[in-house]
Amino acid sequence: MSNSGMESLGPNSETPLKIAIVGFGNFGQFIAKGIQRQGHVVLASSRSDYSDYCNENGIKFFKNLEELCEEEPDIVLICSSILSTESVILGIPFHKLKQDTIFADVLSVKEFPRNLFLDVLPPEFGIVCTHPMFGPDSGKHGWAGLPFVYDEVRILKGSTQAQKCAQFLSIFQKEGCRMVEMSCKEHDRYAAGTQFITHTIGRILSQLNLESTPINTNGYETLLQLTESTVSDSFDLYYGLFMYNVNAMEQIENLSKAFEAVKQKLFSRLHGILKKQIIERVSFQKSIPEEKPGSYFLPDNKKMKDFSSFAEPSEKTSKEQEDE
Ligand SMILES: NC(=O)c1ccc[n+]([C@@H]2O[C@H](COP(=O)([O-])OP(=O)(O)OC[C@H]3O[C@@H](n4cnc5c(N)ncnc54)[C@H](OP(=O)(O)O)[C@@H]3O)[C@@H](O)[C@H]2O)c1
Repeated sequence: MSNSGMESLGPNSETPLKIAIVGFGNFGQFIAKGIQRQGHVVLASSRSDYSDYCNENGIKFFKNLEELCEEEPDIVLICSSILSTESVILGIPFHKLKQDTIFADVLSVKEFPRNLFLDVLPPEFGIVCTHPMFGPDSGKHGWAGLPFVYDEVRILKGSTQAQKCAQFLSIFQKEGCRMVEMSCKEHDRYAAGTQFITHTIGRILSQLNLESTPINTNGYETLLQLTESTVSDSFDLYYGLFMYNVNAMEQIENLSKAFEAVKQKLFSRLHGILKKQIIERVSFQKSIPEEKPGSYFLPDNKKMKDFSSFAEPSEKTSKEQEDE
């Protein structure tokens, strides 16, 4: 078993591939368009019924996975949510498929489907794990220049399987994607520090209900766009990025520490100013006892009973003055 290699991606003179998409939601439908543009045949199956959409778009829809597998697709492309993938794959009747079938996936995490495929698929099935690093929003004007990560986990060298795997990958190459061959482990390490952080910041910003204003800066426009694009993905997807990437927890902690460090920097400077004002006020009072010091910053002590160290001095009672 070995790599079929991107060098072997030749012109698409071969018979079109029959590609069965399992999980035909938002992303499944989006990826199907590119596959069709490259002249391949798309079959689909999903938990929900997408018959009408498929009829309108030249795709054969199967309510039942048995019937889909009886069509003997060359590639079974898993496009289900990360969270449901295990149960989806375990529901596929492998015995109905051809011996050299290739299983591929588009999950936004990679070690999890790789290990799952290796664990449950018959040994003769090929495995190629991919992550198109774009979606219906970022890829709406075409896929040119957008990164496509892939790892040929188990492909029989010099076989028809290797040729079909190359043909499958060439779909994305011909659409203009920037092809990045990378191990699933390495992908997950990079993705936690990039994609997961991006989604997390977008989710945090969405909690603030940011609105457009007449004085938006370019930076603010970027934040609005980020918020919009992250919340247009399902929460299942975001939760999957967290739950199924071992590096995600570390990134959440780093983010939380970074926020604390920034707050600390701000508050320590504020504390310095307050301290200076308190000390200066005390020495000022001592040198000019007759006059009340003019402090613009400190609040009225009556409103700040519980924070007496920050409050202005109260008028002394006649009893206190007598005691002095
Ligand atoms: N959106 C993106 O930009 C993007 C980019 C790259 C990769 N991906 C990957 O593409 C996959 C699909 O993403 P998505 O954006 O379409 O949204 P998603 O919420 O991650 O997945 C939706 C898909 O999962 C299926 N599904 C959900 N729960 C299920 C269950 N309990 N049993 C069976 N099927 C279930 C849905 O089927 P029904 O529709 O039939 O209910 C639908 O096909 C994910 O693995 C994601 O990581 C997404």
